[in-house]
Amino acid sequence: MPITAVIGCHWGDEGKGKVIHYLVQNGYDAVARFNGGPNSGHTIYDSQRRKIVLHVIPSGILYPYVRNIIGNGVALDPKLFLEEANSVRQTGSNLSNLYISDMCTVITPYHTAAERTSPKARKIGTTGRGMGSAYSSRTARITPLMAHFFGPRNILTELLEELDAELSVSERLTKLGESPLNASDIAESYSRMLGEFGNNVTDTMHLSNNILKENGRIAAEGAQASLLDRDHGTYPYVTSSNATVAGVPSGLGVPPKEITEVVGVMKAGYITRVGSGAFPTELGKEGDEKTESKLDSQEFDELSHNIRKGNASEREIGQYLRIAGNEYGASTGRPRRTGWPDLVATEYAHMLNRFDWLALTKLDVSDFIPEIPICTYYEENRRLSRRFSPLFLAQYPPFYEKRLSGWMSSTTDAREFDDLHEHAQELVEFWDQIAPAKIISVGPEREQTILRF
Ligand code: IMP
Repeated sequence: MPITAVIGCHWGDEGKGKVIHYLVQNGYDAVARFNGGPNSGHTIYDSQRRKIVLHVIPSGILYPYVRNIIGNGVALDPKLFLEEANSVRQTGSNLSNLYISDMCTVITPYHTAAERTSPKARKIGTTGRGMGSAYSSRTARITPLMAHFFGPRNILTELLEELDAELSVSERLTKLGESPLNASDIAESYSRMLGEFGNNVTDTMHLSNNILKENGRIAAEGAQASLLDRDHGTYPYVTSSNATVAGVPSGLGVPPKEITEVVGVMKAGYITRVGSGAFPTELGKEGDEKTESKLDSQEFDELSHNIRKGNASEREIGQYLRIAGNEYGASTGRPRRTGWPDLVATEYAHMLNRFDWLALTKLDVSDFIPEIPICTYYEENRRLSRRFSPLFLAQYPPFYEKRLSGWMSSTTDAREFDDLHEHAQELVEFWDQIAPAKIISVGPEREQTILRF
């Protein structure tokens, strides 16, 4: 099993970290990131339960015997990376098991300023981390890569000046009454920041292929998820990299044939989305998540009570799932939109990735929901359709053919499939029709996991 790809099935935040943890515990030699950048946020905990939020550093970093690779397909922002690296160092890690591609894209102040001044990026609801402009300038061949920050300073300064001119960043900033950017200052400060990681920067394409040659196993850790994929997601409300399994070979520089296993990760009883874009099974309306007030514990108890009694509106169920599932972005803190499970969207993700097995996360969040409707069709021109059309999704209302009864009891102590209430088993078995659900997560702790291998 040379490469196992761990891929989100929907719009991200599915909880891929637990799967990576499982793989690392089961003999994987490396964890590699192949796409995305500081737009993603993966939360891990060290042995003393200290919380660490990772953005580009792979989730295996706290295992000194595991190589952690930031591939050429990743976009890295040196400023944010420095903060991230420091938070990992505080756990005692010296980062000697971190390998950064000399060909990865570097996010500079030009990219973040270009995104900040782009009305389109605001409309899409991007994370504001310069992803679109970093990846597009790489595609346009106008941006320096990691290795350039370790080369002659004058060449780097020239490359940054060209980037500035191509993106018209200083021109736009001047028009807005802001100071233009200074290429030579940026070349100096960014080279200094990255210089600290000179020992970590290397040719990760050969490294990854050598691991494979020596029969090592790599877990490819996806960021974002299938429906946010640049080429196959709900365009233009997508991210700027390939978040499906298709991103692995190009983002690591490995042959596609080396990917012998694909794992789909999804929440068992609901879906989330951050930012704008169609979401057929959304509970409540887009924007509800931004306007709702924070509930104190008494108000949350009241909401939970109404949910259990079946007296809650869709909007309230959406709010309940958001709070109970702690659905707030690890990178930006933004509240996530929540919705009912969607078989059509999941089948589409399966079509793109061909999952070998699934990991179902956060089953426990649905513990006290009396009924879980599952969208099995969309209504397309008054006909039921099983086709996920990324461009026209907003026009298709969901059709809930399947309505599973809730189990109204806690799953958090379940450790075996047989410990689950039969209705919870029914939900798991419903997803088995896509691919066998082999990991079921019933809480944030590592041991709150059911394995069905
Ligand atoms: P960008 O990746 O910052 O350009 O944002 C494009 C879209 O992808 C926006 O809707 C973001 O909210 C979404 N997005 C980006 N990264 C993540 C993630 O890690 N989880 C969930 N959504 C994400």
